Amino acid sequence: MEKKKASFSGGLGFVLAAAGSAVGLGNIWRFPYLAAKDGGGLFLLVYIILALTFGFVLLTTDIGIGRRTKKSALKAYESVNSKWKFLGVLTFIVPALIMTYYSVIGGWITKYIVVFTTGNAKEAAKDGYFNDFISSKAAPIVFMLIFLAMTSVIVYLGVEKGIEKFSKIIMPGLLIVVVLIGIFSLTLSYKAEDGTVRTGLQGLFVYLVPNFDGLTVQKFIGIVMDAMGQLFYSLSVAMGIMITYGSYVKDDVDLNKSIRNIEIFDTMAAFLAGLMIIPAVYVFMGKEGMSEGPSLMFVSLPKIFEEMGPIGNFVGVVFFFMVLFAALTSSVSIMETLVASCMEKFNKSRKAVSLVMALIYAGAAAVICLGYNVLYFEVKLPNGAIGNLLDIMDYLSNYVLMPVIAILTCVLIGWIVKPKYIIDEVKKNNTSFKREGLYTVMVKDVAPVMLVVLLLKSLGLF
Ligand code: PFF
Repeated sequence: MEKKKASFSGGLGFVLAAAGSAVGLGNIWRFPYLAAKDGGGLFLLVYIILALTFGFVLLTTDIGIGRRTKKSALKAYESVNSKWKFLGVLTFIVPALIMTYYSVIGGWITKYIVVFTTGNAKEAAKDGYFNDFISSKAAPIVFMLIFLAMTSVIVYLGVEKGIEKFSKIIMPGLLIVVVLIGIFSLTLSYKAEDGTVRTGLQGLFVYLVPNFDGLTVQKFIGIVMDAMGQLFYSLSVAMGIMITYGSYVKDDVDLNKSIRNIEIFDTMAAFLAGLMIIPAVYVFMGKEGMSEGPSLMFVSLPKIFEEMGPIGNFVGVVFFFMVLFAALTSSVSIMETLVASCMEKFNKSRKAVSLVMALIYAGAAAVICLGYNVLYFEVKLPNGAIGNLLDIMDYLSNYVLMPVIAILTCVLIGWIVKPKYIIDEVKKNNTSFKREGLYTVMVKDVAPVMLVVLLLKSLGLF
């Protein structure tokens, strides 16, 4: 068994590491496609409200439990209350499920790096290019394996800290590139077959201004459900990860401030990714193209890069490299959690566990890749969406397990050990906790009730 990892050097080190886990494909790939599917502005509004309330409550709770118990998720819940050990086990399942498809999407990013570095940007901008790629049998598996190998090597060697050092440069760099592409996509315009001209500014309007036309209660609940699942996924909460990160935070760090910074960074990254992708989708693909789903970014971005002219190829290379980095810091955090827990449980070395884990996920992720060709089928999921294998994994983790874990965490903290357990932790060293009142009401009453409603809806029970 390895010794417990050293603590973060301070508030900044903690924020950077936690943001490295939080900011990833969830922000750049998942947020824009959900926001587009749900019509833009209304989803954005709901998401921001949820981030400021639910996101803050769940992040505070996870990090608070971690720092107070100084244990990883598997053992932390047991320390909070001896009867709640099962919740630690449950949290383990979420990253285990997410890992099956995270490396598939990471593989798609890797493929686009190759496409742009080999100067094939024009090809990639053609209609059907992405679909041809994911429906081919071998290529998606090969690229997934490359991404998984990179993740596994980092975890195998235990060099995450070395990688995280680059975060200070690459993450802000990624945000700048995203903003620049976003500004460019606002200048786009396109004449559709029927002669109408669609502009980037109109697309911006779709993204930012909520549209209540034809909104029904059912649809609205659907949007809240999507936004909530996205929030869990994006902040890496309700899956034990932030508990583990919290356990490495020194007692003198101002938790309130750190949590605020992680929230801001993660939400900004998602917002800007939406700004980059959604107006362009509207311009090139119209309103009908907005419900494209998981392939959205891979279909729309090459079109933007093509519009940029000769420089587009270069921008594409830089962009996909930076996204790869963000995706790697997140996938490393997922795999690290799994590896660390198994090392603890089976008392085996890091190297042995990482190897076995890499092999298991190579198999599992290959099956997900085949879900776009040999194993292709579509089922109607209980939340109303139509899905294939990848969507099923996504549904199970984000729409079922995470809400269950979040509800149970709220019951444990709100009703069994009482919110003071977390509040005292945040206020350690006389640091202020401005949203203390909000925290208490949310964790005890609002969050559990609303989450139960959403869970029932996700399960198709009303
Ligand atoms: N929050 C990450 C993202 O937005 O891409 C994804 C993620 C990280 C999920 C870590 C699960 C996890 F354990």
